[in-house]
Amino acid sequence: MSGTFIAANWKMYKNRAEAEAFFRAWRLLPAPRGREIAFFPPFTLLGVVKELLPSGQALGGQNLHEAAEGAFTGEVSAPMLSDAGCSYVLVGHSERRHVFGESDNRVAKKFSASMNGGLRPVLCVGEKLDEREAGRTLEVVLGQLASALGLLPPAQGFDVAYEPVWAIGTGKVAKASDASEVHLAIIEWLKKRGAGKEARVLYGGSVKPDNAAELLAADGVQGVLVGGASLEPTSFHKIATAGM
Ligand code: PGA
Repeated sequence: MSGTFIAANWKMYKNRAEAEAFFRAWRLLPAPRGREIAFFPPFTLLGVVKELLPSGQALGGQNLHEAAEGAFTGEVSAPMLSDAGCSYVLVGHSERRHVFGESDNRVAKKFSASMNGGLRPVLCVGEKLDEREAGRTLEVVLGQLASALGLLPPAQGFDVAYEPVWAIGTGKVAKASDASEVHLAIIEWLKKRGAGKEARVLYGGSVKPDNAAELLAADGVQGVLVGGASLEPTSFHKIATAGM
């Protein structure tokens, strides 16, 4: 994979009419060149967004179950997401880990299930505020990576999103230099393990039009995962074209 990766995580926002309005405006804005764009809408909008996406832009799920199919009421599998037109899926987003109690073990199962199901996972990792304050950021982040990747480097492609938990949805953004330190550590860790040669490491957590250029220019930052600021077309477009 090449090119800076700009991803929109819509979380549990938007209905059909709002998604249609978003793409009416989005399609009028010039496509950001040399950047890969992906949208992660709620499951109910995957089919709608698939139809409205400009060509070359990608679709992803926000979560998946580790089984391919089964009696798991309320869950969605990797083959189902593929079938709906997804090429990506978020795995281990901090809201999954910390609001819905997904363990490292569960995240590891989802990570491999997503690749077995033909998707490219974006593995989300990040420390909580008390862990950062205790100087444990790299230990936590690299521990989450090690647990998800297991013993063998995955055969298929994946990306990583570094999202400090204290920065998500709070308006508090990591300093570019702090993000860089963690990104470079992740890149180095992957290199040593011979894993993820093509993995891009994205930054997430309160990315906005006014901080995106600085973050995207930081050493080791190869894209951004945007929540709140991706819900509005002009704001997401400013981020998608920041620093160009
Ligand atoms: P935020 O969310 O941009 O609203 O902080 C980022 C994310 O959760 O992926």
